[in-house]
Amino acid sequence: RTARLTLGPAFTVGDVDPRLFGSFVEHLGRCVYTGLYEPGHPAADAAGLRRDVLALVRELGVTLVRYPGGNFVSGHRWEDSVGPVADRPRRLDDAWHSTETHRFGLSEFHGFLRALGPRTAPLMALNLGTRGVADALRLHEYANHPSGTALSGLRAAHGDPEPFGIRMWCLGNEMDGPWQTGHKTAEEYGRLAAETARALRRRDPGAELVVCGSSGRSMPTFATWEATVLAHTHDLVDHISLHAYYEPLDGDVDSFLASAVDMERHIEEIAATCDHVAARLKSAKRIGLAFDEWNVWYTSRRRERGPGPDEWPEAPRLLEDHYTVTDAVVVGSLLIALLRHADRVRLACLAQLVNVIAPIMTEPGGPAWRQTTFYPFAQAARHGRGRVLDVRVDAPVHRTDRYGEAALLHATAVRAGDGSVTLFAVNRSRTEPLPLDVALRGLRLTDVIGHSALADADPDARNTLDRPERVSPRRVAGTVLRDGRLTTVLEPLSWNVIRLR
Ligand code: AHR
Repeated sequence: RTARLTLGPAFTVGDVDPRLFGSFVEHLGRCVYTGLYEPGHPAADAAGLRRDVLALVRELGVTLVRYPGGNFVSGHRWEDSVGPVADRPRRLDDAWHSTETHRFGLSEFHGFLRALGPRTAPLMALNLGTRGVADALRLHEYANHPSGTALSGLRAAHGDPEPFGIRMWCLGNEMDGPWQTGHKTAEEYGRLAAETARALRRRDPGAELVVCGSSGRSMPTFATWEATVLAHTHDLVDHISLHAYYEPLDGDVDSFLASAVDMERHIEEIAATCDHVAARLKSAKRIGLAFDEWNVWYTSRRRERGPGPDEWPEAPRLLEDHYTVTDAVVVGSLLIALLRHADRVRLACLAQLVNVIAPIMTEPGGPAWRQTTFYPFAQAARHGRGRVLDVRVDAPVHRTDRYGEAALLHATAVRAGDGSVTLFAVNRSRTEPLPLDVALRGLRLTDVIGHSALADADPDARNTLDRPERVSPRRVAGTVLRDGRLTTVLEPLSWNVIRLR
């Protein structure tokens, strides 16, 4: 059966906030060390940043980078990461059972962003696990105050006279998780987050603050955590965080391919929870959703041992997932889910950027390459700009064990300022091609600029050190736009980008 949908300019979801295409750099495994930063590498610049990785990050189109954690931040002392590198302490990182050398720190991160260019902003996470209000204010003064105070002077003495200008802050990380250093109850965290937010707001009324939501939809306190935390912070923060990682459980690939069903419910449930709190407070304010950790994460769990109880390695290989074509199709579908909720999801971070559950891989002293998941992100970041059209799909369904009936077609469309439209579509069937028929009403579209698809006869195909270009999107022929009707066929298990003008 054919999948059908209608696109028109009058039915829209909302404008895409470019920060939907954010990513995440944590001091975890080889994300930083031998990932984006490797002094002595043939491609390294004078600051030790790998130029080959910088080029790939630019190509990926990342607009926002969350830093420095993640679980890492909850034991982090920011002052260890500034000043002369030779004087920086080596410390135990309890989150990842590693040794942190602090050779890369706040100033180096700022240099990394500068090297990427002005379109990439920082999202700085504060330690509300082992630290609190006073320390958040000290970091803010060091990072953002122009001059004339102890900490702004220290920054200048460290070689950074200009402030870093950080406008977006996460008030801790996953504070609902018992694994988090300094884990708190919702009441304890809500109070601490409120006081930290109040103090930061006095410093910088324009700062954008993200309060911690649940670390996952399966947490026992999911939604009640958000309601309690927001009861304390609703009027003080701008966004609440959502985190989700997806995997094929018990080899159930059809449910895995429908992971976006779970992501869309997650978004809708937390939006409803925020609005419930707003209703209780008689507030017209709408809290934004910050999906600041999302991805597919499982292949490394099956392979990696991780450091033993007496081992505290430097930059070990951790969470190095090697992504398949199937994983890329799921990532594409998750991007579609974010775009379909562009009215509420203001920012999102693919976790993470390099080596650690990442779209970019590197080999120490060797090359950098694109994982399969690189492509859907790069294409969405490039073409998913403008206004999201409301896409209601009429498509065949199939049964999944986790989500019941799931439509075989998952799709969204974005209309750019110049009137061109990009349709993003996933065929979730692993075996059947899916004919697609799109009615275009009032959009004045006459040409197919291009149709690219990521699909492969081998759903487990991946890009590796030995075959870094095994998988990439291909041009699709036979997609036709005539008299306001687009017709095409989506290959089984495929991520598709169809551009129209
Ligand atoms: O992204 C990897 C880890 O997943 C992060 O450190 C943590 O916040 C989450 O549990």
